[in-house]
Amino acid sequence: MDVKSIKEEKAEVEIWQYVFGFTPMAVVKCAIELEIADAVESRGGAVSLPDLASAVACSPSALGRIMRYLTHRGFFELHESTNQYSNTPLSLLILKSGANSLAPLLVMEASPTMLAPWHGLGARASRDGSSGFKAAHGEEIWEFGSQNPAQSKLFNDGMASHARRAVSEIVERYGGVFEGIGSLVDVGGGDGTALRCIVEACPWIRGINYDLPHVVSAAQQRQGVEHVAGDMFEHVPKADAAFIMWVLHDWSDDECVQILTKCREAVPKEPGKVIIAEAVIFEGEEDKYRDVKLALGVAMLSHTDKGKEIGLLKSGIS
Ligand SMILES: C[S@@+](CC[C@H](N)C(=O)[O-])C[C@H]1O[C@@H](n2cnc3c(N)ncnc32)[C@H](O)[C@@H]1O
Repeated sequence: MDVKSIKEEKAEVEIWQYVFGFTPMAVVKCAIELEIADAVESRGGAVSLPDLASAVACSPSALGRIMRYLTHRGFFELHESTNQYSNTPLSLLILKSGANSLAPLLVMEASPTMLAPWHGLGARASRDGSSGFKAAHGEEIWEFGSQNPAQSKLFNDGMASHARRAVSEIVERYGGVFEGIGSLVDVGGGDGTALRCIVEACPWIRGINYDLPHVVSAAQQRQGVEHVAGDMFEHVPKADAAFIMWVLHDWSDDECVQILTKCREAVPKEPGKVIIAEAVIFEGEEDKYRDVKLALGVAMLSHTDKGKEIGLLKSGIS
């Protein structure tokens, strides 16, 4: 077979992944909503289809099709000898209440509100600089959140589930960056989860979680963390250092300069530490997260007016 026909044959199969491309997200969301992974755990880690169906109140026939798809994708394992399902490392990441779970982020991204702007991606691309979220909902994402507490909670819970994992990785890999810091302001810190995790790992730090009024007013009190409401374009509370995660990617280069200028004003000249956590797309380098980072890059196009992920070319930042 020549190379062209091998490629054509591959394409014939591959195109179907796009025709039904929404399926994995929808089925995993369904598994989260039905709490299937939790039901398996709470029944001793192994459960038959009829028992699982009764535990999650589903028809065995419908659930059987969902489980067949999920096991095929690596969520859950069906043991032939016992005809029982068990969890896998992947399905354990969608536990309702797991500390390591990304379920809240998936449920947020799969919500009708967050999916709507994707339907206008073409229009968004043809008028660069306008917001896909605003086109879909009439206002930008943060204004929308301030008017819709349920959506704001969904968003903040999703961010918190990512923050728990990200901070544990940051502390493990780059923990030294927090040494010698007495107070730390988390700029656009959401519900304070990231800062709480930092303070837990570095108890000498006094945390100031800084976000918009509707976000901090709904946030839980957290030990070692003070919530402060405000607008980072106007002011950032003073602290020994500033931390800013997954915020700059929502804004244009000029807006990033404004935010970083306010961070700079908030911290002492020496050591003048502003700690930035963002996804970086390294061009021309092997990266197991490349696909996700590229998707995140398009998500910023869909959900913001000028936000983007940082691309690091050999020749500099793009
Ligand atoms: C993508 S979320 C990141 C949340 C958090 N840093 C994290 O990584 O989990 C961006 C955050 O920026 C906040 N934000 C947006 N505009 C803001 C502003 N003008 N002043 C302060 N915070 C703002 C949002 O409310 C939201 O919590």
